[in-house]
Amino acid sequence: DSRRDSLFSDTMRLSSALLCLFLLTAEVTRSTGSSKCIARNFGYDSVVCECNSTYCDSLSSVTLPPLGRYSSYVSSMVGSRLEAGQGQVQVNGTATLRLTLVPYQKYQKIRGFGGAMTDAAAINILSLSAGAQDQLLRQYFSPEGIGYTVVRVPMASCDFSTHLYTYADTPGDYDLDTFTLAPEDFHMKIPLLQRAQALSSRPLSLLASAWSAPAWLKTNGALIGKGSLKGQPGGKEHKTWARYYIRFLEAYAKYNLTFWAVTTGNEPSAGRMTNYSFQALGFTPEEQRDWVALDLGPALHASSYPHTHILILDDNRLLLPYWAKVVLNDVHAGRWIHGVAVHWYMDSFVPAEISLGVTHHLYPEYYLFGTEACTGWSPLDRGVKLGSWQRAEQYAHDIIEDLNHYVVGWTDWNLALDHTGGPNWVKNFVDSPVIVDAQRDVFYKQPTFYSVAHFSKFLLEGSQRVGVSSSQKTELEHCAFIRPDGSVVLIILNRSSSEIQFEVWDPSVGYIPSTAPAHSLLTLAWNRQ
Ligand SMILES: *[C@@H]1O[C@H](CO)[C@@H](O)[C@H](O)[C@H]1NC(C)=O
Ligand SMILES: *[C@@H]1O[C@H](CO)[C@@H](O)[C@H](O)[C@H]1NC(C)=O
Ligand SMILES: *[C@@H]1O[C@H](CO)[C@@H](O)[C@H](O)[C@H]1NC(C)=O
Ligand SMILES: *[C@@H]1O[C@H](CO)[C@@H](O)[C@H](O)[C@H]1NC(C)=O
Ligand SMILES: *[C@@H]1O[C@H](CO)[C@@H](O)[C@H](O)[C@H]1NC(C)=O
Repeated sequence: DSRRDSLFSDTMRLSSALLCLFLLTAEVTRSTGSSKCIARNFGYDSVVCECNSTYCDSLSSVTLPPLGRYSSYVSSMVGSRLEAGQGQVQVNGTATLRLTLVPYQKYQKIRGFGGAMTDAAAINILSLSAGAQDQLLRQYFSPEGIGYTVVRVPMASCDFSTHLYTYADTPGDYDLDTFTLAPEDFHMKIPLLQRAQALSSRPLSLLASAWSAPAWLKTNGALIGKGSLKGQPGGKEHKTWARYYIRFLEAYAKYNLTFWAVTTGNEPSAGRMTNYSFQALGFTPEEQRDWVALDLGPALHASSYPHTHILILDDNRLLLPYWAKVVLNDVHAGRWIHGVAVHWYMDSFVPAEISLGVTHHLYPEYYLFGTEACTGWSPLDRGVKLGSWQRAEQYAHDIIEDLNHYVVGWTDWNLALDHTGGPNWVKNFVDSPVIVDAQRDVFYKQPTFYSVAHFSKFLLEGSQRVGVSSSQKTELEHCAFIRPDGSVVLIILNRSSSEIQFEVWDPSVGYIPSTAPAHSLLTLAWNRQ
């Protein structure tokens, strides 16, 4: 296979030439405190950054320059990774394409960004040496990392587990006397969540989702396949399933891990599909409505955790606004509910305006929150691709579209996977922003890692989306926020293959001349006072 080898070495030569060029140009603009990407090319359209037990590239913590100057951070297909620069805000504008900040148009406030501590993620993180584990957790959660504050925690097993289990697998145990967390919680997820919390300068917002109820509570007597809770909402199976949630919250609280929110269950539509291949629990929107109204809502309210938010749906936006209408129109259910959780699969087939937009306008008092996204899930584009910029663009496109349609946070799927995209007991292998190579004791930060970082590192909790007006039609995708300290963050995605010149006008500060390189993601930030 020497042709492939020579192609590979050509690519490597080209990429190291690009890397040199990148390092030369980066030298000029890089601010102090940051460290550079050790780039590796695996034959896709861009590179990964390699980290080990003693080294990982980082932007460090971000401080904005004084009024009259701006900061910029660029990542691009040719190899920039959060490359920092600064410039002077201009008095006059000259570009034909102008993006004008419209601060009096105010929209939703950001809750946060994050990923999921699945069994697979925990197994991969713990497969590294202690030093490399620490580097990895710092990348996500410490102040020099990318500012994750949200962690989704599966309640018991999902497909990203090595085997099937729930916390109460003894048939007929309606009192949940045998309820117990799993070794995966005690030895892996809980210690890692505690370490993540210790590294973070802010309290983490933990979010719990269950994939399946115990088999004996279900119509099909199994964790997988088509099945729902036996009986009716208000009945003993539905009550037991609500109590199981409370037992979970109590069990984690013993380890000082308290949850911001629970969802009504992962992808209820999956459990209504014939022969669905992994853990699922089917609900129709009517059943979900009545279970929340009669069981989950009252149980949570009467528990030691009455302030835990309840998020409905936890499934694709394809089901909106229909699902929200059925559940939220009912005051008995709606009074317990705080938000609507959405997954990103098949977003390209469902315009954001008719799903997220319409739901927000019908139910503005309930927030929208992204709870799951990953690349490499589609049969046409399967598994891990080390260094795919195309996938970074898919992430950034989806985040911008969500944020521009009232979503207040975005949660990635597995925090880390191995090079096969697992482990996953049903071989549903996908990609992750961090791919671990335990043999070499290294991990790779994928382009998608930086894609999320352009948002998560800058959009602190409480940042409020504001309007942006464009002087002409453009291929640039963008969203703008005013942070709690009054500074502005504007994120711009250029998915086209040519460079775009433009300027940003903030009427209270001036003009920021800018260029979005081909296939790039740009974060601009500046003070207004
Ligand atoms: C980690 O990576 C850095 C930068 O490539 C390298 O200098 C160092 O030797 C590596 N450390 C280990 C333990 O491999
Ligand atoms: C900016 O515009 C003003 C008014 O149009 C003009 O007087 C001034 O010379 C311009 N300044 C620069 C630096 O071009
Ligand atoms: C519990 O966690 C909080 C942060 O969420 C921390 O401030 C506190 O010190 C922790 N308490 C114990 C006993 O570890
Ligand atoms: C579901 O699985 C059963 C048993 O394996 C099989 O007989 C049936 O044809 C499957 N149904 C569908 C729709 O695939
Ligand atoms: C985006 O990149 C393309 C390709 O380089 C370029 O033509 C275009 O001008 C860029 N867009 C912006 C706004 O810079």
